[in-house]
Amino acid sequence: MAGTIPEEEELMKELQERIVQDGKVLSASVLKVDAFLNHQVDPQLTMKIGQRFAELFAGEKITKVVTIEASGIHFAMATSFALGVPFIYAKKKKAVTLTEEVYSAPVHSFTRQETYQISVSRQYLSKEDRVLIVDDFLATGAALVGLTNIIKDAGAHLVGVGAVIEKSFQEGRGLLEQAGVRIESLARIESMSPEGIHFIEEEPARV
Ligand code: G4P
Repeated sequence: MAGTIPEEEELMKELQERIVQDGKVLSASVLKVDAFLNHQVDPQLTMKIGQRFAELFAGEKITKVVTIEASGIHFAMATSFALGVPFIYAKKKKAVTLTEEVYSAPVHSFTRQETYQISVSRQYLSKEDRVLIVDDFLATGAALVGLTNIIKDAGAHLVGVGAVIEKSFQEGRGLLEQAGVRIESLARIESMSPEGIHFIEEEPARV
């Protein structure tokens, strides 16, 4: 219908508006989105985001959605619900109950200046799996590259990465693209400062 905003564009706009209205730019590289995304969570928006990732990767025969605890979990849940498959969250600390063999990878945190291990039980990922990674932020890519290594170790096929917010001025996208990974980010920030946030405006993919 003429004059109607397609659903995918509506979601992109809604997300951009929420980032501008409810987000806080703490510095040129850190965006606080605790009000709706990774501390207090907007469930309606989260479910729409999951639906959108499911649409973008429809036809890829995804068998598992994978994320890292903690802030990726609700987006992985929403996406896996829409796809009708399980999701797995990589653990950052080895739990006492995680007694079986695990795939693990080191992740260097630039914000905390420390390296930690992420792990996934070998029981839940195998070479038969077609995996979609979902996370709240695509930033330096350190955490996501760690996850791609775990998926590689399992012999599973990585279909792509869905990020809710991409800070395009950081190196994450470049690192993943070099490795041939398909990336779908719902809001891409070109630059930001306390004065304002600039988004990369692009035609959302039609699926
Ligand atoms: P990534 O690009 O692979 O996500 O990794 P990076 O090492 O750059 O980011 C480390 C953690 O910090 C990630 O959370 C990421 O989501 C989060 N992060 C990066 N930039 C920002 C930002 O500008 N604002 C906020 N709020 N978070 C940011 P994580 O390891 O998954 O941990 P958790 O926070 O989910 O527990």
